[in-house]
Amino acid sequence: MDNKRIIIAIDGHSSCGKSTFAKAIAARLGYIFIDTGAMYRAVTLYALEHGAICSGMVDEAAVEAMLDHINIDFRFNPQRGASDIYVNGDLVEGKIRTIEVSNCVSAVSSIAAVRRKLVAMQQQMGLKRGVVMDGRDIGTVVFPEAELKIYMTADPMVRAERRFKELTAKGDKVTLEQIYENVVSRDEADMTRAISPLRKADDAIVLDNSQMSVEEQMAWFMERYNEVISR
Ligand code: DC
Repeated sequence: MDNKRIIIAIDGHSSCGKSTFAKAIAARLGYIFIDTGAMYRAVTLYALEHGAICSGMVDEAAVEAMLDHINIDFRFNPQRGASDIYVNGDLVEGKIRTIEVSNCVSAVSSIAAVRRKLVAMQQQMGLKRGVVMDGRDIGTVVFPEAELKIYMTADPMVRAERRFKELTAKGDKVTLEQIYENVVSRDEADMTRAISPLRKADDAIVLDNSQMSVEEQMAWFMERYNEVISR
């Protein structure tokens, strides 16, 4: 059973450590980690840099028209132990997590054509299995047949504080209030959008990590993983 490679879907709220968790799981299992939020962020960055977003207003038709010119790929970076994201050959990993991108990404990710393109890419990337994919619709839309689905959440203020620490450590000039507002408004936008809203798949297991360390989350995960793999 050890060589049974599965698909692990991790969905949940913004800034609750999904990527950190997914990355740690992938490293532990020797799986590929795919951060689908990075893909929506990369499209948003491209739209910002190419005039499809003005003063926070997203021109949906312009974004849709750009999609054929946006070529996204991931390349493994051994220093980070994870893949970096590239758009048309340019490394954009460092540019996609700014507050500017965060403030526009919900609007961009609610465009049907954007979702169609990215979901198709994600399904392609999972064909060989042995992947941990994190996002909002992985267990519900991208891989409804995933063997293990986790729905992550945490208290919004705890999430804002974590993201605030991350951004200020990088030198970003942001306030905790700005981040809190972004976290809460993205939850709202992600859960109420018309297409593929964030929701827990019926067969997903909830992980509230407000009070949990990464090690505790990993121990929790390994128990569930071993159950699935021994079935
Ligand atoms: O995981 P993240 O916060 O980096 O994701 C950025 C945004 O992308 C998030 O606000 C919602 C959107 N997203 C999505 O709609 N579907 C996904 N599978 C992943 C992210």
